[in-house]
Amino acid sequence: MIIRDATEADLPAIIEIYNAATATRISTALFEPVTVEERLPWFRRHSPNTFPLWVAEVDRRIAGWLSFHEFIRRPAYRGTAEISIYVHEKFRRRGIARRLLEKAIADAPRLKTRALVGYVLGHNEASLRLFEGSGFQRWGRLPRIARFEKSERDLVIVGRHIA
Ligand SMILES: CC(C)(COP(=O)(O)OP(=O)(O)OC[C@H]1O[C@@H](n2cnc3c(N)ncnc32)[C@H](O)[C@@H]1OP(=O)(O)O)[C@@H](O)C(=O)NCCC(=O)NCCS
Repeated sequence: MIIRDATEADLPAIIEIYNAATATRISTALFEPVTVEERLPWFRRHSPNTFPLWVAEVDRRIAGWLSFHEFIRRPAYRGTAEISIYVHEKFRRRGIARRLLEKAIADAPRLKTRALVGYVLGHNEASLRLFEGSGFQRWGRLPRIARFEKSERDLVIVGRHIA
């Protein structure tokens, strides 16, 4: 497996993984699939030396991705980044998310990031365990703020300081 910066040509594969996860109602608060065109501005907000978007490639297929986002646009939060991780269903439980996350932690100093945070729906056990396994703690829980068709879900904020 290799991890590299994403290019615009990777966007359809990135979106495909994202949309498949959206449909489960476990990992995103979106209801409808997104299109490549809609996500282009999101893609272009990334930059390899500040807020990277990485893809994990296995046998030349995009198996997963990790993105950095600006946390809150205020100077005091400049050293904090929000991260999201998605892995294709076919490639799960092989350590791909773990390796992406470990790279985010390792590269954080280079990116001038002192803290990483993730927003995870409270019933997303896989993701909570993933983050906790890499030293993240539960820093906050916003109760029942995500409303789906038949349920209301908590949003958990996981975080980790970088030494
Ligand atoms: C969460 C997700 C990224 C994990 O990806 P993955 O590549 O399968 O994860 P890994 O194989 O690296 O697993 C790392 C750890 O995560 C946890 N984990 C992963 N999948 C799990 C599952 N289905 N159930 C419980 N724990 C799980 C485990 O602690 C695992 O460590 P272990 O294998 O030693 O037990 C993947 O399930 C996914 O893409 N889900 C949909 C998107 C999402 O929810 N993203 C998080 C929102 S930011």
